[in-house]
Amino acid sequence: MTTHVVEEETHLTLPAAAVEAGRLRFASAGDADQALRLGAFNLAVPEDLDVTAGLAFCRSFYKPATDDHDRHHGHREHGHPDSKLGYEDRPDQVEQLQLESFLWQRYLPGEVTATLRRMRELTLDTLYGVFDAIGIPEEDRELVTGGAREDKGLCYTTVNHYRAGLSDRAGIVEHSDSGFITTICTDQPGYEILHEGRWLPVRERAGHFTVNLGDAFRVLTRKLPRPATAVYHRVPELRPDAGAPDRSSFTIYMGPRYDMSLYQYDTEGELREFQGFREFSVEKAGKLGYEFHSRI
Ligand SMILES: [Fe+2]
Repeated sequence: MTTHVVEEETHLTLPAAAVEAGRLRFASAGDADQALRLGAFNLAVPEDLDVTAGLAFCRSFYKPATDDHDRHHGHREHGHPDSKLGYEDRPDQVEQLQLESFLWQRYLPGEVTATLRRMRELTLDTLYGVFDAIGIPEEDRELVTGGAREDKGLCYTTVNHYRAGLSDRAGIVEHSDSGFITTICTDQPGYEILHEGRWLPVRERAGHFTVNLGDAFRVLTRKLPRPATAVYHRVPELRPDAGAPDRSSFTIYMGPRYDMSLYQYDTEGELREFQGFREFSVEKAGKLGYEFHSRI
């Protein structure tokens, strides 16, 4: 029997999975085990999902707008008044635009919205596949996600521009994601995860996204026989490369709404409210030393 997490001295190869006819299938039972243990895996990009528009948008959103109707540019200055997230110039190399799924059509170019919607569908199927792998009862899933199937939970995209010209700072500082799941599309290496106490660069797998499991999963499953890890990850400082564009990535995130509770199964398998998600997020921000979103 082979396990697909292979350490090749300093690199880690993630376990692999694909969604076929709406169902998540890991490459093997070993891949499923490793995915839960690591809190990360590779997910095949479906043939009908074209990521080109998303990556092009990563390279344009921060540049000045040509006019008021230009949705490809001008997002640094825009303000996004209907969003509780919006543009952020972070203290690391990343500048990012975060927009809730119900605002994509209003603020983003049509082809970007189409790509994100397809990726949201894929992420939802993947989330349900992870619930299957852990053994989360079907009847609990909409409660703990706040209605992910009906898009009533919190789903947003993050569009990242890694400013390699900014030196002496991380690409993105080490963190775990707060929600259940994040699907990441990127155009170059740099993603690292903390594995058995060591930071390891992850080997890119062509034609695949990277999926992270987050705090909401860790809290929910901590006392179950097959718990999920909230993967600690980062991107180290990137150096400018005259021949290549800055690193780009865009993601789909799904988690509880901030007005909801996180849930946890107790040792008897009973589902219990754990802590308000907003309170949890504010506490986490305080521990990590960053400001929580001012609009939430
Ligand atoms: Fe992250």
